[in-house]
Amino acid sequence: MPADASRRLHERALRSVPTGTHSNSRVASPYPTYFVRAEGAYLWDVDGRRWTDFMMGNGAVILGHAEPHVMAATQDAVANGLGAGFESELSITAAEKFLQLVPNAEQVRFTNTGTEAVMHAVHVARAVTGRPSIAKIEGAYHGWWDEVFVSTWPDLRAAGNAHMPVPLPGGAGLRQEAVTSAVVVPFNDLETTAAILEARRDDVAALIVEPTMIDVGFIPPEDGYLEGLRTLTSELGIVLVFDELLTGFRVALGGAQERYGVTPDLSVWGKALANGFPLAALAGSRAMMARTEPGSDNAPFVGTFNGYRPALAACLATLELLEDGAVTRSLEERSRRLVEAWDEVVAKAGVRARLHAGGGHFQPYFTPLPVRDYRSAATTDAAAYERLRAAAAERLLILPPKALLHAAFSTAHTDDDLRALIDATRAAFIEETPDA
Ligand SMILES: Cc1ncc(COP(=O)(O)O)c(C=O)c1O
Repeated sequence: MPADASRRLHERALRSVPTGTHSNSRVASPYPTYFVRAEGAYLWDVDGRRWTDFMMGNGAVILGHAEPHVMAATQDAVANGLGAGFESELSITAAEKFLQLVPNAEQVRFTNTGTEAVMHAVHVARAVTGRPSIAKIEGAYHGWWDEVFVSTWPDLRAAGNAHMPVPLPGGAGLRQEAVTSAVVVPFNDLETTAAILEARRDDVAALIVEPTMIDVGFIPPEDGYLEGLRTLTSELGIVLVFDELLTGFRVALGGAQERYGVTPDLSVWGKALANGFPLAALAGSRAMMARTEPGSDNAPFVGTFNGYRPALAACLATLELLEDGAVTRSLEERSRRLVEAWDEVVAKAGVRARLHAGGGHFQPYFTPLPVRDYRSAATTDAAAYERLRAAAAERLLILPPKALLHAAFSTAHTDDDLRALIDATRAAFIEETPDA
């Protein structure tokens, strides 16, 4: 195809597909790039160009695209007749392997997407507590369901006081009551969270937390914060849910709950769980998980595609490759080195910015402020980010389209791939700056 194949595909797509994409997160200006193949750290587009992928399936593809062991396992499952709607030994073996890697959880059930796993966690929390409302962190994303698609990347002009954030809908069409009853609290601020939750102790069923905020970049919890949330929610009888979609297998093999030594009541997993195949999980204590069993006091847990065999095969193969901890350790070490190299370049350029990174996730923040929650992250200079993204794109490196998302690399990325990112940063902020 000639060099404008993506543009022509986009024009064609617009006739049948709104925006020309199947997820609004892929909408790009002037049009998205359309791809034909993915392997390792690379994507090949319809114009035949090879891009280095620094989005990696929104963080899902921890081992690189089309990892051979994972692909072989899924092909076996397909050859044996897919398997929608019934159980097999694989659904037990994958669960056992998951629990081996995530020792804080006692039981697990598989579903398909992170959004669904979050829905299950919310239902269980309501069944257990008999309370209606959900508390969440300002700026955090937990999927697009009414109850949690609240104050995700909120417009701070409408979000009120930092000590009493106003719940804002993430879009139209949400159940209004879900939005107005949501309780929004700031990340890394235990005192404010305690004050807000204590005032709402009779109606909050669950507090859902991404234990390192990664959907807005990479914001780790400060010392004592997660422990404090654990104590607070136990005192108030609120179910503590960790969203480990992005922290899982990356910040530690057993997720943030292992890294920070804090056990939530429930946790949700997905993404790296199956190296890019659609699979998610709800995990937790035996007592909590029992509340998903059939019974009029319990929450529903059903789904035609739950425990879909190709995805379970991908899960087992992925977890086998992760289980000795070498992948997680190497991603962490390489993240540390990326930060050192990146921070050195921007310091030399005189740009006030820092790279936050861990477990192969990374995010540049172009702000002089320490980034510790959504509001400080939102002070990042979007124009500076765009300068970096454009310099990267010129070198065929894919970074997220917006300033407050998160980038990722995988074990398939070579040191040269990471160096190319540093070169793009240098080009954006030093080589294009006269007299630098
Ligand atoms: C932290 C987090 N939670 C939940 C979700 C929703 O998962 P899914 O897209 O699989 O529904 C995402 C997806 O981006 C996520 O990053």
